[in-house]
Amino acid sequence: MKIAIVGTGYVGLPTGVGLAEFGNDVVCVDKIAGKIEALKQGQLTIYEDGLEELFHKVVKAGKLHFTTSMSEAVSGADVVLLAVGTPPHPVTKEADLQYIYAAAQELAQYLDGYTVIATKSTVPVGTGDEIEAIIKRTNPKADYDVISLPEFLREGFAVHDFFAPDRIVIGADSEKARNVMLKLYKPFEGKTQFLLVGRKSSETIKYASNAFLAMKIHYINEMADFCEASGANISEVARGMGLDSRIGNKFLNPGPGYGGSCFPKDTNAMAQMAKKFGVHLHLIETTIAYNDERKVEMAKRVLSVVNGNPEAKIAVLGLAFKGGTDDCRESPAMDILRELIKCSHNVSVYDPKAMDNAHRLIGDSVNYAADAYEAAKNADILVILTEWEEFRHLDLPKLKEIMNKPKIVDLRNMLGAEEVCKNGFEYCCIGRKH
Ligand code: UDX
Repeated sequence: MKIAIVGTGYVGLPTGVGLAEFGNDVVCVDKIAGKIEALKQGQLTIYEDGLEELFHKVVKAGKLHFTTSMSEAVSGADVVLLAVGTPPHPVTKEADLQYIYAAAQELAQYLDGYTVIATKSTVPVGTGDEIEAIIKRTNPKADYDVISLPEFLREGFAVHDFFAPDRIVIGADSEKARNVMLKLYKPFEGKTQFLLVGRKSSETIKYASNAFLAMKIHYINEMADFCEASGANISEVARGMGLDSRIGNKFLNPGPGYGGSCFPKDTNAMAQMAKKFGVHLHLIETTIAYNDERKVEMAKRVLSVVNGNPEAKIAVLGLAFKGGTDDCRESPAMDILRELIKCSHNVSVYDPKAMDNAHRLIGDSVNYAADAYEAAKNADILVILTEWEEFRHLDLPKLKEIMNKPKIVDLRNMLGAEEVCKNGFEYCCIGRKH
Protein backbone atom coordinates (compact mmCIF):
# COMPACT_ATOMS: atom_id res chain seq x y z
CA MET A 1 0.00 0.00 0.00
CA LYS A 2 1.11 3.60 -0.45
CA ILE A 3 1.20 5.43 2.85
CA ALA A 4 1.79 9.14 3.46
CA ILE A 5 2.83 10.22 6.94
CA VAL A 6 2.46 13.89 7.79
CA GLY A 7 4.94 14.88 10.53
CA THR A 8 8.29 13.20 11.14
CA GLY A 9 8.59 13.41 14.93
CA TYR A 10 8.63 10.78 17.66
CA VAL A 11 5.37 9.29 16.34
CA GLY A 12 5.61 9.77 12.58
CA LEU A 13 9.15 8.54 12.04
CA PRO A 14 9.05 5.22 13.96
CA THR A 15 5.59 4.52 12.49
CA GLY A 16 6.87 5.24 8.98
CA VAL A 17 9.89 2.99 9.44
CA GLY A 18 7.69 0.21 10.88
CA LEU A 19 5.14 0.35 8.06
CA ALA A 20 7.95 0.40 5.47
CA GLU A 21 9.45 -2.70 7.11
CA PHE A 22 6.11 -4.42 6.42
CA GLY A 23 6.63 -3.75 2.71
CA ASN A 24 4.49 -0.63 2.27
CA ASP A 25 5.68 2.32 0.20
CA VAL A 26 5.95 5.08 2.74
CA VAL A 27 6.50 8.78 2.14
CA CYS A 28 7.09 11.01 5.15
CA VAL A 29 6.33 14.68 4.69
CA ASP A 30 7.34 17.53 6.97
CA LYS A 31 7.30 21.31 6.67
CA ILE A 32 10.75 21.66 8.25
CA ALA A 33 13.10 21.48 5.27
CA GLY A 34 16.17 20.91 7.50
CA LYS A 35 14.64 17.76 8.97
CA ILE A 36 13.76 16.35 5.58
CA GLU A 37 17.22 17.16 4.22
CA ALA A 38 18.88 15.40 7.16
CA LEU A 39 16.65 12.33 6.75
CA LYS A 40 17.38 12.24 3.02
CA GLN A 41 21.09 12.29 3.90
CA GLY A 42 20.50 9.25 6.11
CA GLN A 43 20.69 11.14 9.42
CA LEU A 44 18.03 10.40 12.02
CA THR A 45 16.49 13.49 13.58
CA ILE A 46 15.46 11.79 16.84
CA TYR A 47 17.04 9.16 19.05
CA GLU A 48 15.06 5.93 19.42
CA ASP A 49 16.49 2.62 20.47
CA GLY A 50 16.75 0.28 17.45
CA LEU A 51 15.45 2.85 14.96
CA GLU A 52 18.67 3.63 13.13
CA GLU A 53 19.37 0.14 11.85
CA LEU A 54 15.82 -0.38 10.63
CA PHE A 55 15.72 3.11 9.11
CA HIS A 56 18.79 2.42 6.95
CA LYS A 57 17.40 -0.97 5.96
CA VAL A 58 14.05 0.33 4.66
CA VAL A 59 15.61 3.38 3.00
CA LYS A 60 18.07 1.11 1.21
CA ALA A 61 15.20 -1.13 0.12
CA GLY A 62 13.51 1.93 -1.42
CA LYS A 63 10.48 1.63 0.86
CA LEU A 64 10.83 4.91 2.76
CA HIS A 65 11.08 8.37 1.20
CA PHE A 66 11.08 11.92 2.50
CA THR A 67 9.71 15.12 1.06
CA THR A 68 8.56 18.61 1.97
CA SER A 69 5.92 18.43 -0.76
CA MET A 70 2.45 17.48 0.46
CA SER A 71 1.28 16.82 -3.09
CA GLU A 72 4.13 14.34 -3.69
CA ALA A 73 3.33 12.48 -0.45
CA VAL A 74 -0.46 12.41 -0.68
CA SER A 75 -1.09 11.86 -4.40
CA GLY A 76 -2.07 8.26 -4.91
CA ALA A 77 -1.81 7.38 -1.21
CA ASP A 78 -4.17 4.71 0.14
CA VAL A 79 -3.74 5.97 3.67
CA VAL A 80 -2.60 9.32 5.05
CA LEU A 81 -1.49 9.27 8.67
CA LEU A 82 -1.59 12.57 10.51
CA ALA A 83 1.24 12.62 13.03
CA VAL A 84 1.80 16.35 13.54
CA GLY A 85 2.15 17.90 16.97
CA THR A 86 -0.86 18.88 19.09
CA PRO A 87 1.02 20.88 21.74
CA PRO A 88 -0.78 22.37 24.72
CA HIS A 89 -2.02 25.93 24.23
CA PRO A 90 0.17 28.07 26.53
CA VAL A 91 -2.82 29.72 28.22
CA THR A 92 -5.83 27.42 27.96
CA LYS A 93 -3.80 24.16 28.14
CA GLU A 94 -6.17 22.72 25.53
CA ALA A 95 -4.61 20.75 22.67
CA ASP A 96 -3.61 23.24 19.99
CA LEU A 97 -5.09 21.90 16.79
CA GLN A 98 -3.85 24.52 14.34
CA TYR A 99 -1.15 22.25 12.84
CA ILE A 100 -3.43 19.29 12.32
CA TYR A 101 -6.19 21.43 10.81
CA ALA A 102 -3.67 23.18 8.53
CA ALA A 103 -2.34 19.78 7.43
CA ALA A 104 -5.89 18.54 6.74
CA GLN A 105 -6.64 21.60 4.63
CA GLU A 106 -3.42 21.27 2.66
CA LEU A 107 -3.64 17.54 2.02
CA ALA A 108 -7.31 17.77 0.95
CA GLN A 109 -6.28 19.38 -2.34
CA TYR A 110 -4.18 16.39 -3.39
CA LEU A 111 -6.47 13.47 -2.59
CA ASP A 112 -7.10 11.23 -5.57
CA GLY A 113 -8.99 7.97 -5.41
CA TYR A 114 -10.40 6.61 -2.15
CA THR A 115 -8.14 7.58 0.76
CA VAL A 116 -8.30 6.90 4.48
CA ILE A 117 -7.09 9.81 6.56
CA ALA A 118 -6.09 8.48 9.97
CA THR A 119 -5.32 10.67 12.96
CA LYS A 120 -2.32 9.35 14.90
CA SER A 121 -1.79 12.59 16.81
CA THR A 122 -3.62 12.74 20.13
CA VAL A 123 -6.66 14.91 19.49
CA PRO A 124 -9.74 15.88 21.49
CA VAL A 125 -12.99 14.08 20.94
CA GLY A 126 -14.71 15.51 17.91
CA THR A 127 -11.53 16.48 16.05
CA GLY A 128 -12.23 13.77 13.46
CA ASP A 129 -15.57 15.50 12.71
CA GLU A 130 -13.78 18.82 12.16
CA ILE A 131 -11.09 17.28 9.93
CA GLU A 132 -13.83 15.65 7.89
CA ALA A 133 -15.58 19.01 7.51
CA ILE A 134 -12.35 20.82 6.54
CA ILE A 135 -11.61 18.29 3.81
CA LYS A 136 -15.18 18.45 2.53
CA ARG A 137 -15.01 22.25 2.35
CA THR A 138 -11.61 22.27 0.65
CA ASN A 139 -12.23 19.48 -1.82
CA PRO A 140 -15.95 18.61 -2.10
CA LYS A 141 -15.25 15.90 -4.69
CA ALA A 142 -12.72 13.96 -2.60
CA ASP A 143 -13.49 10.32 -1.81
CA TYR A 144 -12.26 9.70 1.73
CA ASP A 145 -12.94 8.65 5.30
CA VAL A 146 -11.45 10.13 8.42
CA ILE A 147 -10.64 7.70 11.20
CA SER A 148 -8.88 7.73 14.56
CA LEU A 149 -5.84 5.48 14.93
CA PRO A 150 -4.28 6.38 18.27
CA GLU A 151 -0.63 5.62 18.92
CA PHE A 152 0.52 4.11 22.18
CA LEU A 153 4.24 4.23 21.46
CA ARG A 154 6.45 4.99 24.44
CA GLU A 155 9.45 7.14 23.68
CA GLY A 156 12.64 5.14 23.83
CA PHE A 157 10.65 1.96 23.12
CA ALA A 158 8.85 3.16 20.00
CA VAL A 159 10.31 0.47 17.74
CA HIS A 160 9.57 -2.27 20.25
CA ASP A 161 6.03 -0.97 20.83
CA PHE A 162 5.35 -0.63 17.12
CA PHE A 163 6.11 -4.29 16.47
CA ALA A 164 4.64 -5.63 19.73
CA PRO A 165 1.64 -3.46 20.60
CA ASP A 166 -0.72 -4.37 23.45
CA ARG A 167 -3.61 -3.47 21.14
CA ILE A 168 -4.44 -1.78 17.87
CA VAL A 169 -7.39 0.57 18.18
CA ILE A 170 -9.18 1.49 14.97
CA GLY A 171 -11.82 4.16 15.43
CA ALA A 172 -13.78 4.17 12.22
CA ASP A 173 -17.43 4.82 11.52
CA SER A 174 -17.12 3.44 7.98
CA GLU A 175 -16.68 -0.22 7.11
CA LYS A 176 -14.70 0.58 3.98
CA ALA A 177 -12.11 2.49 6.02
CA ARG A 178 -12.01 -0.26 8.65
CA ASN A 179 -11.21 -2.83 5.96
CA VAL A 180 -8.37 -0.72 4.55
CA MET A 181 -6.85 -0.47 8.04
CA LEU A 182 -7.26 -4.20 8.69
CA LYS A 183 -5.34 -4.80 5.47
CA LEU A 184 -2.58 -2.39 6.52
CA TYR A 185 -2.26 -4.02 9.93
CA LYS A 186 -2.58 -7.59 8.63
CA PRO A 187 0.97 -8.48 9.80
CA PHE A 188 -0.35 -8.17 13.38
CA GLU A 189 -3.24 -10.59 12.81
CA GLY A 190 -3.23 -13.29 15.49
CA LYS A 191 -0.46 -11.48 17.37
CA THR A 192 -2.33 -8.68 19.08
CA GLN A 193 -5.81 -7.53 20.03
CA PHE A 194 -7.68 -5.49 17.43
CA LEU A 195 -10.31 -3.16 18.79
CA LEU A 196 -12.76 -1.82 16.24
CA VAL A 197 -14.72 1.05 17.73
CA GLY A 198 -16.40 4.30 16.80
CA ARG A 199 -14.23 7.33 16.07
CA LYS A 200 -15.15 9.24 19.23
CA SER A 201 -14.53 6.24 21.45
CA SER A 202 -11.14 5.79 19.87
CA GLU A 203 -10.26 9.46 20.44
CA THR A 204 -11.32 9.04 24.08
CA ILE A 205 -9.40 5.77 24.62
CA LYS A 206 -6.09 7.54 24.06
CA TYR A 207 -6.76 10.29 26.59
CA ALA A 208 -8.40 7.97 29.10
CA SER A 209 -5.41 5.60 28.96
CA ASN A 210 -2.74 8.27 29.36
CA ALA A 211 -4.65 10.04 32.13
CA PHE A 212 -5.11 6.73 33.95
CA LEU A 213 -1.38 5.99 33.78
CA ALA A 214 -0.57 9.50 35.01
CA MET A 215 -2.97 8.96 37.93
CA LYS A 216 -1.30 5.63 38.69
CA ILE A 217 2.07 7.42 38.98
CA HIS A 218 0.47 10.15 41.08
CA TYR A 219 -0.97 7.47 43.35
CA ILE A 220 2.32 5.66 43.90
CA ASN A 221 4.06 8.99 44.54
CA GLU A 222 1.46 9.82 47.18
CA MET A 223 1.95 6.37 48.70
CA ALA A 224 5.69 7.10 48.75
CA ASP A 225 4.96 10.29 50.73
CA PHE A 226 2.89 8.20 53.10
CA CYS A 227 5.64 5.58 53.47
CA GLU A 228 8.20 8.27 54.26
CA ALA A 229 5.97 9.58 57.02
CA SER A 230 4.87 6.23 58.39
CA GLY A 231 8.12 4.27 58.17
CA ALA A 232 6.88 1.77 55.57
CA ASN A 233 8.98 0.99 52.48
CA ILE A 234 7.44 1.98 49.11
CA SER A 235 9.37 -0.69 47.19
CA GLU A 236 7.85 -3.41 49.38
CA VAL A 237 4.42 -1.79 49.22
CA ALA A 238 4.54 -1.45 45.40
CA ARG A 239 5.62 -5.08 45.05
CA GLY A 240 2.75 -6.20 47.26
CA MET A 241 0.24 -4.13 45.33
CA GLY A 242 1.58 -5.18 41.92
CA LEU A 243 1.08 -8.88 42.64
CA ASP A 244 -2.65 -8.27 42.51
CA SER A 245 -3.37 -8.90 38.83
CA ARG A 246 -6.17 -6.32 38.92
CA ILE A 247 -3.60 -3.66 39.80
CA GLY A 248 -0.60 -4.95 37.82
CA ASN A 249 3.05 -4.32 38.62
CA LYS A 250 3.77 -1.70 35.95
CA PHE A 251 3.83 2.07 36.52
CA LEU A 252 4.33 1.69 40.25
CA ASN A 253 7.79 3.27 40.39
CA PRO A 254 7.79 6.37 42.55
CA GLY A 255 9.82 9.30 41.29
CA PRO A 256 10.02 13.06 40.92
CA GLY A 257 6.69 13.21 39.04
CA TYR A 258 5.73 12.24 35.51
CA GLY A 259 6.81 14.25 32.47
CA GLY A 260 7.30 13.97 28.74
CA SER A 261 5.45 15.17 25.72
CA CYS A 262 2.31 13.15 26.47
CA PHE A 263 1.18 12.83 30.10
CA PRO A 264 1.30 16.51 31.11
CA LYS A 265 -0.26 17.58 27.80
CA ASP A 266 -2.90 14.88 27.70
CA THR A 267 -4.04 15.17 31.33
CA ASN A 268 -4.47 18.92 30.88
CA ALA A 269 -6.25 18.52 27.55
CA MET A 270 -8.56 15.85 28.98
CA ALA A 271 -9.49 18.05 31.95
CA GLN A 272 -10.19 21.05 29.68
CA MET A 273 -12.09 18.97 27.16
CA ALA A 274 -14.30 17.51 29.92
CA LYS A 275 -15.13 20.99 31.21
CA LYS A 276 -16.41 21.88 27.75
CA PHE A 277 -18.78 18.94 28.01
CA GLY A 278 -19.78 20.09 31.52
CA VAL A 279 -17.96 17.27 33.30
CA HIS A 280 -15.55 17.83 36.18
CA LEU A 281 -12.73 15.26 36.25
CA HIS A 282 -11.66 15.61 39.89
CA LEU A 283 -9.06 12.85 39.92
CA ILE A 284 -7.27 14.13 36.85
CA GLU A 285 -7.29 17.73 38.07
CA THR A 286 -5.78 16.71 41.41
CA THR A 287 -3.15 14.63 39.63
CA ILE A 288 -2.09 17.62 37.51
CA ALA A 289 -1.80 19.96 40.50
CA TYR A 290 0.07 17.48 42.68
CA ASN A 291 2.51 16.55 39.90
CA ASP A 292 3.46 20.21 39.42
CA GLU A 293 3.91 20.73 43.17
CA ARG A 294 5.95 17.59 43.52
CA LYS A 295 8.79 18.82 41.32
CA VAL A 296 9.20 21.95 43.45
CA GLU A 297 9.10 19.77 46.60
CA MET A 298 11.80 17.51 45.17
CA ALA A 299 14.06 20.50 44.46
CA LYS A 300 13.56 21.67 48.05
CA ARG A 301 14.53 18.21 49.23
CA VAL A 302 17.81 18.41 47.31
CA LEU A 303 18.59 21.92 48.54
CA SER A 304 17.89 20.97 52.14
CA VAL A 305 20.65 18.34 51.95
CA VAL A 306 23.17 21.14 51.22
CA ASN A 307 21.41 23.46 53.71
CA GLY A 308 20.54 25.85 50.88
CA ASN A 309 24.20 26.83 50.50
CA PRO A 310 24.43 28.64 47.10
CA GLU A 311 28.14 27.79 46.80
CA ALA A 312 27.60 24.04 47.22
CA LYS A 313 28.36 22.15 44.03
CA ILE A 314 25.38 20.11 42.86
CA ALA A 315 25.98 17.29 40.38
CA VAL A 316 22.86 16.31 38.45
CA LEU A 317 22.65 12.97 36.65
CA GLY A 318 19.82 12.75 34.14
CA LEU A 319 18.00 15.47 32.21
CA ALA A 320 15.65 13.58 29.87
CA PHE A 321 12.09 13.06 31.10
CA LYS A 322 12.84 9.35 31.43
CA GLY A 323 15.62 6.92 30.55
CA GLY A 324 16.12 5.75 26.97
CA THR A 325 15.29 9.05 25.24
CA ASP A 326 16.96 12.37 24.48
CA ASP A 327 13.67 14.21 24.98
CA CYS A 328 13.62 16.96 27.63
CA ARG A 329 10.11 18.22 26.93
CA GLU A 330 8.23 18.63 30.23
CA SER A 331 11.03 16.73 31.91
CA PRO A 332 10.73 16.69 35.72
CA ALA A 333 14.55 16.69 35.73
CA MET A 334 14.60 20.02 33.86
CA ASP A 335 11.96 21.56 36.13
CA ILE A 336 13.89 20.48 39.22
CA LEU A 337 17.12 21.71 37.65
CA ARG A 338 15.56 25.13 37.03
CA GLU A 339 14.65 25.30 40.73
CA LEU A 340 18.18 24.30 41.72
CA ILE A 341 19.75 26.94 39.46
CA LYS A 342 17.68 29.62 41.24
CA CYS A 343 19.55 28.82 44.46
CA SER A 344 22.93 27.47 43.42
CA HIS A 345 25.69 28.97 41.25
CA ASN A 346 27.52 25.72 40.86
CA VAL A 347 25.54 23.03 39.06
CA SER A 348 27.11 20.40 36.85
CA VAL A 349 24.95 18.11 34.72
CA TYR A 350 25.31 14.92 32.74
CA ASP A 351 22.87 12.89 30.65
CA PRO A 352 23.88 10.10 28.24
CA LYS A 353 21.68 11.42 25.39
CA ALA A 354 19.88 14.64 26.30
CA MET A 355 22.71 17.17 26.67
CA ASP A 356 22.01 19.02 23.40
CA ASN A 357 18.28 19.26 24.04
CA ALA A 358 18.89 20.44 27.60
CA HIS A 359 21.35 23.05 26.35
CA ARG A 360 18.73 24.36 23.97
CA LEU A 361 16.37 24.83 26.93
CA ILE A 362 18.63 26.27 29.62
CA GLY A 363 21.75 27.44 27.78
CA ASP A 364 24.97 27.95 29.70
CA SER A 365 23.51 28.35 33.17
CA VAL A 366 25.08 25.02 34.20
CA ASN A 367 28.31 23.16 33.44
CA TYR A 368 27.90 20.29 31.00
CA ALA A 369 30.08 17.34 31.99
CA ALA A 370 31.39 14.59 29.70
CA ASP A 371 30.32 11.83 32.07
CA ALA A 372 28.90 11.15 35.53
CA TYR A 373 32.32 11.36 37.19
CA GLU A 374 33.24 14.69 35.66
CA ALA A 375 29.91 16.04 36.91
CA ALA A 376 30.53 14.59 40.37
CA LYS A 377 34.07 15.92 40.75
CA ASN A 378 34.27 18.09 43.89
CA ALA A 379 30.48 17.97 44.24
CA ASP A 380 28.79 18.41 47.59
CA ILE A 381 25.82 16.36 46.49
CA LEU A 382 24.97 13.99 43.62
CA VAL A 383 21.36 13.93 42.46
CA ILE A 384 19.85 11.26 40.20
CA LEU A 385 16.88 12.61 38.28
CA THR A 386 16.41 10.25 35.31
CA GLU A 387 16.32 6.46 35.31
CA TRP A 388 19.22 5.74 32.91
CA GLU A 389 20.44 2.16 33.27
CA GLU A 390 24.08 3.27 33.46
CA PHE A 391 23.38 5.15 36.72
CA ARG A 392 22.61 1.82 38.39
CA HIS A 393 26.23 0.82 37.89
CA LEU A 394 28.05 3.88 39.21
CA ASP A 395 31.48 3.18 40.68
CA LEU A 396 30.71 4.19 44.26
CA PRO A 397 34.29 4.05 45.67
CA LYS A 398 35.42 6.26 42.77
CA LEU A 399 32.59 8.72 43.42
CA LYS A 400 33.46 8.82 47.12
CA GLU A 401 37.01 9.67 46.24
CA ILE A 402 36.26 12.52 43.82
CA MET A 403 33.28 14.14 45.57
CA ASN A 404 33.71 16.88 48.11
CA LYS A 405 30.99 15.43 50.34
CA PRO A 406 29.57 11.90 50.04
CA LYS A 407 25.89 12.70 49.64
CA ILE A 408 23.49 11.17 47.15
CA VAL A 409 19.86 12.08 46.56
CA ASP A 410 18.33 9.39 44.36
CA LEU A 411 14.92 10.54 43.13
CA ARG A 412 14.49 7.42 40.99
CA ASN A 413 15.39 4.81 43.64
CA MET A 414 18.04 3.41 41.32
CA LEU A 415 20.77 2.51 43.75
CA GLY A 416 20.93 -0.23 46.37
CA ALA A 417 20.64 1.60 49.65
CA GLU A 418 22.76 -0.90 51.55
CA GLU A 419 25.60 -0.75 49.04
CA VAL A 420 25.54 3.06 48.93
CA CYS A 421 25.62 3.40 52.72
CA LYS A 422 28.30 0.71 53.01
CA ASN A 423 30.46 2.90 50.77
CA GLY A 424 30.15 5.74 53.25
CA PHE A 425 27.50 7.87 51.55
CA GLU A 426 24.65 9.76 53.13
CA TYR A 427 21.76 8.50 51.00
CA CYS A 428 18.27 9.86 50.46
CA CYS A 429 15.73 8.22 48.16
CA ILE A 430 11.97 8.13 47.67
CA GLY A 431 9.38 6.51 49.90
CA ARG A 432 11.72 4.55 52.10
CA LYS A 433 14.25 5.34 54.74
CA HIS A 434 17.08 4.03 52.58
C1 UDX B 1 3.42 7.67 27.27
C2 UDX B 1 2.55 6.40 27.21
O1 UDX B 1 3.13 5.39 28.04
C3 UDX B 1 2.41 5.94 25.76
O2 UDX B 1 1.56 4.80 25.71
C4 UDX B 1 1.82 7.08 24.97
O3 UDX B 1 1.55 6.78 23.67
C5 UDX B 1 2.73 8.29 25.04
O4 UDX B 1 2.87 8.66 26.42
P1 UDX B 1 5.99 8.24 27.18
O5 UDX B 1 5.59 9.66 27.33
O6 UDX B 1 7.00 7.88 26.17
O7 UDX B 1 4.73 7.32 26.88
O8 UDX B 1 6.57 7.79 28.60
P2 UDX B 1 6.24 6.74 29.74
O9 UDX B 1 7.20 5.63 29.66
O10 UDX B 1 4.83 6.39 29.77
O11 UDX B 1 6.62 7.62 31.02
C6 UDX B 1 5.99 8.89 31.26
C7 UDX B 1 6.51 9.53 32.52
O12 UDX B 1 6.13 8.79 33.67
C8 UDX B 1 8.05 9.61 32.60
O13 UDX B 1 8.42 10.86 33.14
C9 UDX B 1 8.42 8.48 33.55
O14 UDX B 1 9.64 8.68 34.22
C10 UDX B 1 7.23 8.53 34.50
N1 UDX B 1 7.00 7.25 35.20
C11 UDX B 1 6.63 6.13 34.50
C12 UDX B 1 7.14 7.18 36.59
O15 UDX B 1 7.47 8.18 37.25
N2 UDX B 1 6.89 5.98 37.22
C13 UDX B 1 6.51 4.87 36.54
O16 UDX B 1 6.31 3.83 37.20
C14 UDX B 1 6.38 4.94 35.14
